[in-house]
Amino acid sequence: MIEIEKLFLENYGQSNGKVYSFFSPGRVNLIGEHIDYSGGLVFPAALTIGIYGAARYRDDNLIRMRSKNISGEVIINLEETLEYNDEDNWGNYPKGIIKELINRGHKIKGMDLLFYSNLPDGAGLSSSAALEVLTGYIILSLENGNNVDRIELSKLCQNVENKFIGVSCGIMDQFSVSLGKKDNAILLDCNSLYYEYVPLDLGNSSLVIMNTNKRRELSDSKYNERRSECEKALELININKANKLKNLCEASLEDVEHFISDTTIKKRSTHVITENKRVKMAACALRMGDIERFGKLMIESHKSLKEDYEVTGFYLDTIVSEALKIKGCIGSRMTGAGFGGCAIALVDNSILDEFENTVSKEYEKITGIKPEFYVSSIGDGVFQINH
Ligand code: GLA
Repeated sequence: MIEIEKLFLENYGQSNGKVYSFFSPGRVNLIGEHIDYSGGLVFPAALTIGIYGAARYRDDNLIRMRSKNISGEVIINLEETLEYNDEDNWGNYPKGIIKELINRGHKIKGMDLLFYSNLPDGAGLSSSAALEVLTGYIILSLENGNNVDRIELSKLCQNVENKFIGVSCGIMDQFSVSLGKKDNAILLDCNSLYYEYVPLDLGNSSLVIMNTNKRRELSDSKYNERRSECEKALELININKANKLKNLCEASLEDVEHFISDTTIKKRSTHVITENKRVKMAACALRMGDIERFGKLMIESHKSLKEDYEVTGFYLDTIVSEALKIKGCIGSRMTGAGFGGCAIALVDNSILDEFENTVSKEYEKITGIKPEFYVSSIGDGVFQINH
């Protein structure tokens, strides 16, 4: 574990105040992509890599924030109105959380904060959700003890991402970072927020995260575009239906066929409806230990994200297709928002080294980029390291 307190003291110096340390994980989504904002089922898990944070109260109304990963400092004066500012870069995430907490009536005290991330940058493993949840958890648990309402915390963080940052994301990332559980995936119904933990027992195989090392491009604008396409689809279906649907995931393929004529909107809705079904089947397969079936559903999910939802792109498609060429790769798909970032693969333990070497070589030959691989462990949601 990183010695975040030591790093903190190196940065902010010694003083009488106590330094508290925390950790917030990244996440990976096993299946159920781009349907959280349409009220669907998702199946993410928290990772053991993520963002560390250390905090110490100050005697004034300033919040000073540094990251060990990037130079510079963001300073917030709690006596002023907090606004989004491009120059503050990553600092806008904690700033948005602090603003939201103030709006909800919390008395925020001045403090110094140091962050350190071991998540690969721009890889789609939810570093922004990890930073949001971490900031919220630090402030709330220092205020009231560790009895933080984690579902409320995820909703608050999603709200900040939507309104302050301007990305219309669903709740999946913030929820998995807040409520992750070691060695378990979370089967989450994004409509009701009902969730169950499912032990991630992968038999003789491992979950490999494959980083295309192609940063997610256009992801925010394309992401918002997909979200409006889903809203449009729901609107078109509801114009014609007596019993109005609350979410696109409640629609059937027949509804799509009957009520939507636009080809693009039709394709988007087809992905949403079929992906939601795949999640149900995948959770069932995992519970029954049917890893082969789980792998097949991953492959179908990627195909649907590629052809119907169109969020994969050259780099993700290349790495997934190279992975699937290898005997012993049971399934593979993109994970997260897409347009670059990471894919995942279920790989037989006996061929892990060969898998990485071959995929790495072939992917680099085709794209000119060297990918990275992480055999991931599944960890807990946000927590305090020292008390
Ligand atoms: C991003 C968003 C999530 C989700 C995924 C796609 O990670 O933050 O809410 O929509 O993309 O499944």
